[in-house]
Amino acid sequence: MDNFRFYVPTDVRFGKDRLKDELTDALNVFGKTVLLAYGGGSIKKNGLYNQVLKLLEKNQNNVVELNGIEPNPRIETVDRGIALCREHKVDVILAVGGGSTIDCAKVVAAGYYYEKSAWELVLERRTFNGPALPLVTILTLAATGSEMNSGAVISNLAANQKLGVGAPSMIPKVSFLDPQNTFTVPAYQTAAGSADILSHLFENYFKKTIGANVQDFVSEGLMKTVIKNCPIALKTPDNYDARANLMWASSLALNGLTGNGKDGAWSCHPMEHELSAFYDITHGVGLAILTPRWMSHVLSEETAAKFQQFAKNVWNIEEADAMTAAKKGIQATYDFFKSCGIPMTLPEVGINEEKLTEMAEQAVKHSTIETAAYVPLSVYDVISIYQACMSESAFI
Ligand code: NZQ
Ligand code: ZN
Repeated sequence: MDNFRFYVPTDVRFGKDRLKDELTDALNVFGKTVLLAYGGGSIKKNGLYNQVLKLLEKNQNNVVELNGIEPNPRIETVDRGIALCREHKVDVILAVGGGSTIDCAKVVAAGYYYEKSAWELVLERRTFNGPALPLVTILTLAATGSEMNSGAVISNLAANQKLGVGAPSMIPKVSFLDPQNTFTVPAYQTAAGSADILSHLFENYFKKTIGANVQDFVSEGLMKTVIKNCPIALKTPDNYDARANLMWASSLALNGLTGNGKDGAWSCHPMEHELSAFYDITHGVGLAILTPRWMSHVLSEETAAKFQQFAKNVWNIEEADAMTAAKKGIQATYDFFKSCGIPMTLPEVGINEEKLTEMAEQAVKHSTIETAAYVPLSVYDVISIYQACMSESAFI
């Protein structure tokens, strides 16, 4: 296990109906002028917007709204949020939504103090270490883990770029995780979110560092949690325990618990971010399509034993031959995503062969997958993985 720092100061308020007694106290610590950030209207449809606004009115908050944050949030929306914060001297940001809303709010929070443009801030990536306005979140979709981590991913579609940035100052101060707020998440987003959670776990599980049993066994438990509960949530969207398990798995999958102490670069996320940057697709769907093809691409005599462990501990595949076990585990992963209703080829999400090379070049350029991934991936490798996603696959 490698050295690590585990710093997750987010005050998590998990469970039913906590907003009415706790939201305004949590905000008052920082001040009275609130930027209320939200997406395209789901919170208006399900009543959460009215609920929050009433609480803020009763608490005599000054409320400024940043609405219309897009899935794959745009840099232009970040700019709009920063301008609002500066104009109204905002004290605290309240983000109500999924990862896109929370990510946008994080960069608005940091951009408020930043002297150059917000896109220049994003280009600082993980080296950014400036201050940020305090952020409180109300999560409405189990997927990214943004509610309990320092990262944010912002798109600049004009430049076909989607890049991650992050700093300790951007970690939410308080996050309200009420599973009931995810009852209205549509099936497609429920499945995509679950694929994203699984991918975060896979990315950390398949890394070069060996001997990190805590991280790997916790990961296996979280993977099984998602595999068990996603189908239940798809069938019965208001099943509280299924939504609760997905929600808490989302936070734990990407708050450092399973990734710290294991060195190396992620593989599927850099490849997916290019699909989103060029075609604006749903992040979790892109990951589901890529993951089994990536697994198959990196399967070798050296990696087979880890894939055999994955097959056995996650999919209950008892198979003495490591290579056969590995292939069955990859097939099970593919079949699971398909059974959740996720389109499993790139043409189904509107992506053809035209830009595969350009996207592969960008994936390598914007990350360290060529040197630091579990199995290093060159432009040629990435093209080959993208190509494998052009049609249905079988792995056994
Ligand atoms: O915009 P609204 O109207 O709110 O609708 C959203 C959106 O259309 C809808 N939705 C959310 N909660 C809902 C709901 N609909 C009904 N009921 C609810 N309760 O779902 C759609 C997708 O929302 P979005 O926030 O885009 O989804 P997600 O949470 O999956 O976030 C995806 C973004 O996060 C980034 C992704 O790249 C992508 O840009 N990521 C952020 C990470 C991080 N900060 O750590 C890590 C991830 O790997 C990921 O890259
Ligand atoms: Zn992700």
